[in-house]
Amino acid sequence: MTKKSEVILSGIRPTGRLHYGNYFGAVKQFLDLQARGLTCYYFVADYHALTTIKERVDYAQITLDMLRTYVACGLDPKKSIIYRQSDLPATTELALLLGMIANIGFLERGTTYKDTIAKLGVGEAGGAEGNPISYGLLGSPVLMAADILIVRADKVPVGDDQRQHVEMAIDLAQKFNSRFQREVLHIPAAVARDAVRLPGLDGSAKMGKSENNDLGLLDDPKLVLQKIKAVQTATDPGPIEGESNDPDRVIPQMPPSVGALYRLLSLTAPKDVFEDFVGKYRRKEKFYGTLKTTLAEHVNTFNAPIIAAYHSPHNTEATVKEFLVENAKRVTPVALETVESCREAMGIGRSLYRA
Ligand code: TRP
Repeated sequence: MTKKSEVILSGIRPTGRLHYGNYFGAVKQFLDLQARGLTCYYFVADYHALTTIKERVDYAQITLDMLRTYVACGLDPKKSIIYRQSDLPATTELALLLGMIANIGFLERGTTYKDTIAKLGVGEAGGAEGNPISYGLLGSPVLMAADILIVRADKVPVGDDQRQHVEMAIDLAQKFNSRFQREVLHIPAAVARDAVRLPGLDGSAKMGKSENNDLGLLDDPKLVLQKIKAVQTATDPGPIEGESNDPDRVIPQMPPSVGALYRLLSLTAPKDVFEDFVGKYRRKEKFYGTLKTTLAEHVNTFNAPIIAAYHSPHNTEATVKEFLVENAKRVTPVALETVESCREAMGIGRSLYRA
Protein backbone atom coordinates (compact mmCIF):
# COMPACT_ATOMS: atom_id res chain seq x y z
CA MET A 1 0.00 0.00 0.00
CA THR A 2 1.38 3.41 -0.83
CA LYS A 3 1.40 5.87 2.00
CA LYS A 4 -0.90 8.79 1.40
CA SER A 5 1.11 11.95 0.99
CA GLU A 6 1.33 14.33 3.89
CA VAL A 7 -1.35 17.00 4.07
CA ILE A 8 -0.08 20.51 4.74
CA LEU A 9 -2.39 23.39 5.50
CA SER A 10 -1.79 27.05 6.01
CA GLY A 11 -4.00 30.11 6.11
CA ILE A 12 -3.24 33.46 4.55
CA ARG A 13 -4.82 36.68 5.73
CA PRO A 14 -6.12 38.79 2.85
CA THR A 15 -3.77 41.76 2.89
CA GLY A 16 -3.54 42.73 -0.78
CA ARG A 17 -0.19 43.47 -2.33
CA LEU A 18 2.66 41.43 -0.95
CA HIS A 19 5.95 42.73 0.35
CA TYR A 20 9.35 41.20 1.03
CA GLY A 21 8.36 40.38 4.60
CA ASN A 22 5.48 38.25 3.29
CA TYR A 23 7.69 36.63 0.70
CA PHE A 24 10.53 35.53 2.98
CA GLY A 25 8.21 34.96 5.93
CA ALA A 26 5.62 32.76 4.20
CA VAL A 27 5.42 32.60 0.40
CA LYS A 28 8.86 31.09 0.01
CA GLN A 29 8.07 28.25 2.36
CA PHE A 30 4.76 27.61 0.58
CA LEU A 31 6.72 27.28 -2.66
CA ASP A 32 9.24 24.89 -1.08
CA LEU A 33 6.48 22.64 0.25
CA GLN A 34 4.71 22.72 -3.10
CA ALA A 35 7.96 21.72 -4.83
CA ARG A 36 8.26 18.70 -2.53
CA GLY A 37 5.07 17.31 -4.02
CA LEU A 38 3.12 17.30 -0.74
CA THR A 39 -0.64 17.85 -0.68
CA CYS A 40 -0.74 21.53 0.18
CA TYR A 41 -3.88 23.39 1.10
CA TYR A 42 -3.42 27.14 1.16
CA PHE A 43 -6.54 29.09 1.85
CA VAL A 44 -7.36 32.75 2.20
CA ALA A 45 -8.71 33.27 5.70
CA ASP A 46 -11.27 35.87 4.68
CA TYR A 47 -13.59 35.25 7.63
CA HIS A 48 -10.65 35.78 9.98
CA ALA A 49 -10.23 39.22 8.46
CA LEU A 50 -13.69 40.11 9.77
CA THR A 51 -12.90 39.50 13.44
CA THR A 52 -11.96 43.14 13.93
CA ILE A 53 -14.08 44.73 11.20
CA LYS A 54 -15.22 48.34 11.66
CA GLU A 55 -16.50 49.21 8.20
CA ARG A 56 -16.92 47.54 4.82
CA VAL A 57 -13.65 46.48 3.21
CA ASP A 58 -13.60 44.94 -0.27
CA TYR A 59 -11.99 41.67 0.79
CA ALA A 60 -13.18 39.93 -2.38
CA GLN A 61 -11.11 42.32 -4.47
CA ILE A 62 -8.14 42.29 -2.10
CA THR A 63 -8.13 38.49 -2.22
CA LEU A 64 -8.06 38.34 -6.02
CA ASP A 65 -5.25 40.83 -6.19
CA MET A 66 -3.25 39.05 -3.52
CA LEU A 67 -3.69 35.66 -5.16
CA ARG A 68 -2.52 37.02 -8.50
CA THR A 69 0.67 38.00 -6.70
CA TYR A 70 1.00 34.54 -5.11
CA VAL A 71 0.59 32.95 -8.53
CA ALA A 72 3.12 35.39 -9.96
CA CYS A 73 5.58 34.19 -7.28
CA GLY A 74 5.12 30.59 -8.40
CA LEU A 75 2.25 29.21 -6.38
CA ASP A 76 0.50 26.86 -8.76
CA PRO A 77 -3.23 26.20 -8.31
CA LYS A 78 -2.85 22.93 -10.20
CA LYS A 79 -0.37 21.63 -7.63
CA SER A 80 -1.50 23.40 -4.46
CA ILE A 81 -5.13 23.57 -3.46
CA ILE A 82 -5.89 27.25 -3.10
CA TYR A 83 -9.34 28.33 -1.97
CA ARG A 84 -11.19 30.93 0.03
CA GLN A 85 -12.29 29.99 3.53
CA SER A 86 -15.72 31.49 2.83
CA ASP A 87 -16.18 29.15 -0.15
CA LEU A 88 -16.00 26.15 2.16
CA PRO A 89 -19.05 26.57 4.41
CA ALA A 90 -18.43 23.20 6.06
CA THR A 91 -15.63 25.00 7.94
CA THR A 92 -18.04 27.38 9.64
CA GLU A 93 -20.33 24.50 10.47
CA LEU A 94 -17.46 22.65 12.11
CA ALA A 95 -16.50 25.84 13.96
CA LEU A 96 -20.00 25.96 15.39
CA LEU A 97 -19.73 22.37 16.60
CA LEU A 98 -16.26 22.90 18.10
CA GLY A 99 -17.52 26.08 19.76
CA MET A 100 -19.81 23.92 21.87
CA ILE A 101 -16.84 22.34 23.62
CA ALA A 102 -14.47 25.34 23.73
CA ASN A 103 -14.40 26.85 27.23
CA ILE A 104 -14.45 30.62 27.51
CA GLY A 105 -11.48 30.48 29.90
CA PHE A 106 -9.49 28.52 27.33
CA LEU A 107 -10.27 31.12 24.66
CA GLU A 108 -9.36 33.99 26.97
CA ARG A 109 -5.82 32.62 27.05
CA GLY A 110 -5.51 33.07 23.26
CA THR A 111 -2.59 35.34 22.38
CA THR A 112 -4.45 37.40 19.76
CA TYR A 113 -7.24 38.00 22.24
CA LYS A 114 -4.85 38.94 25.03
CA ASP A 115 -2.77 41.21 22.77
CA THR A 116 -5.87 43.00 21.52
CA ILE A 117 -7.10 43.56 25.08
CA ALA A 118 -3.67 44.91 26.00
CA LYS A 119 -3.49 47.16 22.94
CA LEU A 120 -6.88 48.65 23.69
CA GLY A 121 -5.74 49.25 27.24
CA VAL A 122 -8.85 47.67 28.69
CA GLY A 123 -9.03 44.96 31.30
CA GLU A 124 -10.89 41.80 30.53
CA ALA A 125 -13.93 43.38 32.14
CA GLY A 126 -13.44 46.33 29.79
CA GLY A 127 -14.66 49.19 32.00
CA ALA A 128 -18.03 50.86 31.67
CA GLU A 129 -18.69 49.70 28.10
CA GLY A 130 -17.87 46.12 28.94
CA ASN A 131 -15.37 44.04 27.01
CA PRO A 132 -15.20 45.62 23.52
CA ILE A 133 -13.79 42.51 21.86
CA SER A 134 -16.12 40.74 19.43
CA TYR A 135 -17.42 37.25 19.94
CA GLY A 136 -15.74 36.51 16.59
CA LEU A 137 -12.31 37.57 17.76
CA LEU A 138 -12.51 35.66 21.03
CA GLY A 139 -13.67 32.64 19.05
CA SER A 140 -11.15 32.95 16.24
CA PRO A 141 -9.01 30.05 17.57
CA VAL A 142 -12.11 27.87 17.20
CA LEU A 143 -12.53 28.96 13.60
CA MET A 144 -8.83 28.36 13.03
CA ALA A 145 -9.16 24.89 14.54
CA ALA A 146 -12.01 24.20 12.12
CA ASP A 147 -9.86 25.37 9.19
CA ILE A 148 -7.19 22.88 10.15
CA LEU A 149 -9.34 19.93 11.17
CA ILE A 150 -11.82 20.13 8.31
CA VAL A 151 -9.23 18.94 5.75
CA ARG A 152 -7.55 16.50 8.20
CA ALA A 153 -4.24 18.31 7.97
CA ASP A 154 -1.12 16.52 9.19
CA LYS A 155 1.09 19.57 9.44
CA VAL A 156 0.41 23.23 9.90
CA PRO A 157 3.39 25.47 9.16
CA VAL A 158 2.97 28.75 10.99
CA GLY A 159 5.02 31.62 12.31
CA ASP A 160 5.69 31.85 16.04
CA ASP A 161 2.74 34.18 16.56
CA GLN A 162 0.29 31.49 15.43
CA ARG A 163 1.83 28.51 17.12
CA GLN A 164 -0.31 28.73 20.23
CA HIS A 165 -3.43 28.79 18.06
CA VAL A 166 -2.38 25.54 16.42
CA GLU A 167 -1.84 24.05 19.89
CA MET A 168 -5.36 25.16 20.74
CA ALA A 169 -6.66 23.35 17.63
CA ILE A 170 -4.86 20.19 18.76
CA ASP A 171 -6.39 20.52 22.24
CA LEU A 172 -9.87 20.98 20.83
CA ALA A 173 -9.53 17.99 18.53
CA GLN A 174 -8.32 15.77 21.37
CA LYS A 175 -11.11 16.96 23.61
CA PHE A 176 -13.67 16.27 20.90
CA ASN A 177 -12.34 12.78 20.27
CA SER A 178 -12.18 11.85 23.93
CA ARG A 179 -15.55 13.34 24.82
CA PHE A 180 -17.40 11.61 22.01
CA GLN A 181 -15.30 8.47 22.21
CA ARG A 182 -14.36 8.24 18.60
CA GLU A 183 -11.27 9.03 16.61
CA VAL A 184 -13.28 11.37 14.45
CA LEU A 185 -10.86 14.25 14.16
CA HIS A 186 -7.36 13.81 12.81
CA ILE A 187 -4.78 15.31 15.17
CA PRO A 188 -2.39 17.68 13.37
CA ALA A 189 1.07 18.89 14.34
CA ALA A 190 2.37 22.45 14.33
CA VAL A 191 5.58 22.89 12.42
CA ALA A 192 7.82 25.91 12.73
CA ARG A 193 8.14 27.93 9.61
CA ASP A 194 11.84 28.26 8.84
CA ALA A 195 11.23 31.80 7.86
CA VAL A 196 13.18 35.02 8.10
CA ARG A 197 11.47 37.85 9.88
CA LEU A 198 12.32 40.88 7.81
CA PRO A 199 12.83 44.25 9.47
CA GLY A 200 11.07 47.29 8.03
CA LEU A 201 12.91 49.81 5.86
CA ASP A 202 12.75 52.14 8.86
CA GLY A 203 14.79 49.64 10.85
CA SER A 204 11.87 48.60 13.05
CA ALA A 205 11.55 44.93 13.92
CA LYS A 206 8.92 43.97 11.40
CA MET A 207 8.13 44.92 7.83
CA GLY A 208 4.44 45.64 7.39
CA LYS A 209 2.10 47.38 5.03
CA SER A 210 0.29 49.22 7.79
CA GLU A 211 3.62 50.32 9.26
CA ASN A 212 4.37 51.89 5.88
CA ASN A 213 7.93 50.56 5.95
CA ASP A 214 7.63 47.86 3.31
CA LEU A 215 9.28 47.01 0.05
CA GLY A 216 6.72 45.52 -2.34
CA LEU A 217 7.17 42.61 -4.73
CA LEU A 218 5.38 44.64 -7.38
CA ASP A 219 7.18 47.94 -6.74
CA ASP A 220 8.62 49.30 -9.97
CA PRO A 221 12.31 50.21 -10.31
CA LYS A 222 11.71 53.90 -9.66
CA LEU A 223 9.81 53.27 -6.46
CA VAL A 224 12.32 50.67 -5.30
CA LEU A 225 15.20 53.11 -5.68
CA GLN A 226 13.23 55.87 -4.01
CA LYS A 227 12.34 53.69 -1.00
CA ILE A 228 15.87 52.34 -0.62
CA LYS A 229 17.44 55.80 -0.94
CA ALA A 230 15.18 57.05 1.83
CA VAL A 231 16.52 54.51 4.32
CA GLN A 232 18.45 56.15 7.18
CA THR A 233 22.21 55.61 6.89
CA ALA A 234 23.42 58.75 8.59
CA THR A 235 25.42 56.97 11.30
CA ASP A 236 29.00 55.92 10.62
CA PRO A 237 29.64 52.16 10.52
CA GLY A 238 30.49 50.74 13.93
CA PRO A 239 32.78 47.81 14.69
CA ILE A 240 31.86 44.26 13.69
CA GLU A 241 33.27 41.57 15.90
CA GLY A 242 34.48 38.24 14.56
CA GLU A 243 35.64 37.14 11.14
CA SER A 244 32.39 35.57 10.07
CA ASN A 245 30.42 37.16 7.25
CA ASP A 246 27.29 35.20 8.09
CA PRO A 247 24.34 37.60 7.74
CA ASP A 248 22.93 36.41 11.08
CA ARG A 249 26.17 37.39 12.81
CA VAL A 250 27.00 40.69 11.15
CA ILE A 251 23.56 42.24 10.67
CA PRO A 252 22.64 42.37 14.39
CA GLN A 253 25.80 44.43 14.98
CA MET A 254 24.67 47.18 12.60
CA PRO A 255 22.30 50.09 13.23
CA PRO A 256 18.80 48.66 12.52
CA SER A 257 18.03 50.55 9.31
CA VAL A 258 21.47 49.71 7.85
CA GLY A 259 20.86 46.12 8.91
CA ALA A 260 17.59 46.18 6.97
CA LEU A 261 19.52 47.03 3.79
CA TYR A 262 22.06 44.27 4.39
CA ARG A 263 19.33 41.77 5.13
CA LEU A 264 17.66 42.51 1.81
CA LEU A 265 21.02 42.32 0.06
CA SER A 266 21.69 38.92 1.62
CA LEU A 267 18.37 37.65 0.26
CA THR A 268 18.52 39.07 -3.24
CA ALA A 269 22.22 39.32 -4.22
CA PRO A 270 24.88 36.61 -4.68
CA LYS A 271 26.97 35.85 -1.61
CA ASP A 272 30.13 37.54 -2.92
CA VAL A 273 28.27 40.81 -3.41
CA PHE A 274 27.00 40.66 0.15
CA GLU A 275 30.44 39.85 1.52
CA ASP A 276 32.04 42.61 -0.51
CA PHE A 277 29.72 45.11 1.18
CA VAL A 278 30.38 43.65 4.61
CA GLY A 279 34.06 44.25 3.87
CA LYS A 280 33.37 47.88 2.99
CA TYR A 281 31.45 48.25 6.23
CA ARG A 282 34.31 46.77 8.25
CA ARG A 283 36.78 49.13 6.57
CA LYS A 284 34.37 52.03 7.19
CA GLU A 285 34.56 53.13 3.57
CA LYS A 286 32.12 55.64 2.18
CA PHE A 287 29.82 53.22 0.48
CA TYR A 288 26.19 53.80 1.41
CA GLY A 289 25.42 55.36 -1.99
CA THR A 290 26.67 52.32 -3.92
CA LEU A 291 25.16 49.93 -1.39
CA LYS A 292 21.77 51.49 -2.10
CA THR A 293 22.04 51.48 -5.88
CA THR A 294 23.44 47.93 -5.89
CA LEU A 295 20.67 46.72 -3.60
CA ALA A 296 18.04 48.45 -5.75
CA GLU A 297 19.38 46.64 -8.82
CA HIS A 298 19.17 43.24 -7.15
CA VAL A 299 15.71 43.95 -5.81
CA ASN A 300 14.58 44.98 -9.28
CA THR A 301 16.04 41.81 -10.77
CA PHE A 302 14.11 39.86 -8.15
CA ASN A 303 10.87 41.77 -8.81
CA ALA A 304 11.01 41.79 -12.62
CA PRO A 305 9.75 38.22 -13.28
CA ILE A 306 7.10 38.57 -10.55
CA ILE A 307 5.82 41.82 -12.05
CA ALA A 308 5.77 40.23 -15.52
CA ALA A 309 3.90 37.16 -14.26
CA TYR A 310 1.47 39.36 -12.33
CA HIS A 311 0.50 41.06 -15.61
CA SER A 312 0.42 37.86 -17.67
CA PRO A 313 -2.81 37.26 -19.62
CA HIS A 314 -2.89 33.83 -17.91
CA ASN A 315 -3.04 35.45 -14.50
CA THR A 316 -6.10 37.65 -14.32
CA GLU A 317 -8.97 38.13 -11.91
CA ALA A 318 -10.97 35.78 -14.13
CA THR A 319 -8.35 33.00 -14.02
CA VAL A 320 -8.02 33.36 -10.25
CA LYS A 321 -11.79 33.12 -9.80
CA GLU A 322 -11.80 30.04 -12.00
CA PHE A 323 -9.22 28.16 -9.93
CA LEU A 324 -10.88 29.26 -6.70
CA VAL A 325 -14.06 27.57 -7.87
CA GLU A 326 -12.21 24.45 -9.04
CA ASN A 327 -10.28 24.10 -5.81
CA ALA A 328 -13.27 24.75 -3.57
CA LYS A 329 -14.93 21.89 -5.44
CA ARG A 330 -11.90 19.67 -4.80
CA VAL A 331 -11.89 20.20 -1.00
CA THR A 332 -15.63 20.13 -0.43
CA PRO A 333 -16.09 16.32 -0.33
CA VAL A 334 -13.32 15.90 2.29
CA ALA A 335 -14.70 18.80 4.31
CA LEU A 336 -18.26 17.51 4.24
CA GLU A 337 -17.15 14.06 5.33
CA THR A 338 -15.37 15.59 8.35
CA VAL A 339 -18.30 17.69 9.45
CA GLU A 340 -20.83 14.92 8.88
CA SER A 341 -18.83 12.51 11.01
CA CYS A 342 -18.63 15.14 13.78
CA ARG A 343 -22.40 15.61 13.68
CA GLU A 344 -22.82 11.89 13.91
CA ALA A 345 -20.36 11.62 16.81
CA MET A 346 -22.23 14.32 18.73
CA GLY A 347 -25.55 12.67 18.12
CA ILE A 348 -27.52 15.04 15.92
CA GLY A 349 -26.77 12.73 13.04
CA ARG A 350 -25.82 13.28 9.45
CA SER A 351 -27.66 16.02 7.61
CA LEU A 352 -30.92 15.07 5.93
CA TYR A 353 -30.67 17.90 3.48
CA ARG A 354 -27.85 20.01 2.05
CA ALA A 355 -28.26 22.60 -0.69
N1 TRP B 1 -4.86 33.15 12.17
C1 TRP B 1 -3.84 33.10 11.13
C2 TRP B 1 -3.15 34.47 11.04
O1 TRP B 1 -3.59 35.42 11.66
C3 TRP B 1 -4.44 32.75 9.80
C4 TRP B 1 -5.08 31.41 9.85
C5 TRP B 1 -6.39 31.19 9.92
C6 TRP B 1 -4.43 30.15 9.82
N2 TRP B 1 -6.64 29.87 9.94
C7 TRP B 1 -5.47 29.19 9.86
C8 TRP B 1 -3.10 29.72 9.76
C9 TRP B 1 -5.20 27.83 9.88
C10 TRP B 1 -2.83 28.36 9.77
C11 TRP B 1 -3.89 27.42 9.82
O2 TRP B 1 -2.14 34.58 10.37
